[in-house]
Amino acid sequence: MDIFQKAFDYTDARIARDSGYYPYFRVIESESDSKVLVDGRELVMLGSNNYLGLTTHPHVRERAAEALAKYGTSCTGSRLLNGNLDIHVELEERLARFVGKEQCLVFSTGFGANIGTISAIVGRHDTVVIDKDDHASIYDGCKLSYGKVERFEHNNVASLREGLERASRNANGDGGALVVVDGVFSMEGDIAPLPRMLPVLKEFGARLMVDDAHASGVLGPSGDGTAAHFGVTGETDLIMGTFSKSFASLGGFIAGDALVIDYIKHNSRPFIFSAAMAPPSVGACLGALDVMESEPQHRERLWEVVRKMHAGYRDLGFDTGTSETPVIPIVLGDEMLVFEFWRRLLEAGVFVNPVRPPAVPAGRALLRTSYMATHTDTQMEFVLETFGRIGRELGVLPA
Ligand SMILES: Cc1ncc(COP(=O)(O)O)c(C=O)c1O
Repeated sequence: MDIFQKAFDYTDARIARDSGYYPYFRVIESESDSKVLVDGRELVMLGSNNYLGLTTHPHVRERAAEALAKYGTSCTGSRLLNGNLDIHVELEERLARFVGKEQCLVFSTGFGANIGTISAIVGRHDTVVIDKDDHASIYDGCKLSYGKVERFEHNNVASLREGLERASRNANGDGGALVVVDGVFSMEGDIAPLPRMLPVLKEFGARLMVDDAHASGVLGPSGDGTAAHFGVTGETDLIMGTFSKSFASLGGFIAGDALVIDYIKHNSRPFIFSAAMAPPSVGACLGALDVMESEPQHRERLWEVVRKMHAGYRDLGFDTGTSETPVIPIVLGDEMLVFEFWRRLLEAGVFVNPVRPPAVPAGRALLRTSYMATHTDTQMEFVLETFGRIGRELGVLPA
């Protein structure tokens, strides 16, 4: 059998493209901000994770350009051997302080930070206990580790307890447990209930890792993430984040106690055998940190936008699930309805991401919308008016 046969037989994408309902790989011809250019048309962008709107901030651009000028385009090698720059070290020291941890390690992607941490920490006799709705990179970190994997029902503390009970049976007196959750869940925008989870973890002596991809810069008194939002930074053992969202760059990090980070640094294969974060990305990230620390108005404006959009969708009568953050799902349930809604939004000038199983549970297909500090009042009014009109046309809302 030809190993390529599966590719020759694969028709899903072709059928979707031919039918005009193909929402992926849209070519954007402009910078990524609250509006984007697609096929020469301006669309209001509700599909990005640029929460603070920093991709176009002059200081962030400037620091990226400075790093490019001083260090060139690439490190061309791993941090371990030949790619370790002073700005990587500076970024790690500043991030550790920012999230309230002893030490930090930066990776070239957020995906790498998750697979690199989980595979290094979870050994043969250990168990990793994950929320069913965790990000794909957490799932893949589990696959890469030699430990056992237990899943629990989304944000369900009773189910987490059962997972930990199974983990302690797996350990058989010889092995630990790492619980990994998204701080803010990427598709539905709800928050992991850390204060209710922690007593259960303590009972079982399990460690906690929180993926703050969608929480860094957004939650917490200074954008310092989910643990800070709940005041449980001390009890949260590992804080992971990406630079591809609020930090307006590319890369990821893991922060925690010095000894644990040092262990990951010397035992994580995705970290050791992959090239270092590129200098312009490090520069952009340092610039974003400068802005987060000195210009709180971006986070304040983000939350103003988020409150307005939550209220707007609620008043129109849409189901936005249990979101409390800038990720606001419009839950429609039916997949075809989601694709038709998406197509009409695109025609009207709104860019959103349709999400179908397995990215969400069966029967929960949704339009993922997300907001940024740079969305204008006019854009928000246009979006709500457009959603309302299409919702009525498609019978999602009463006529
Ligand atoms: C929750 C979560 N974790 C990890 C990642 C991976 O981060 P990156 O895209 O920066 O590699 C993402 C991004 O898609 C994410 O949403």
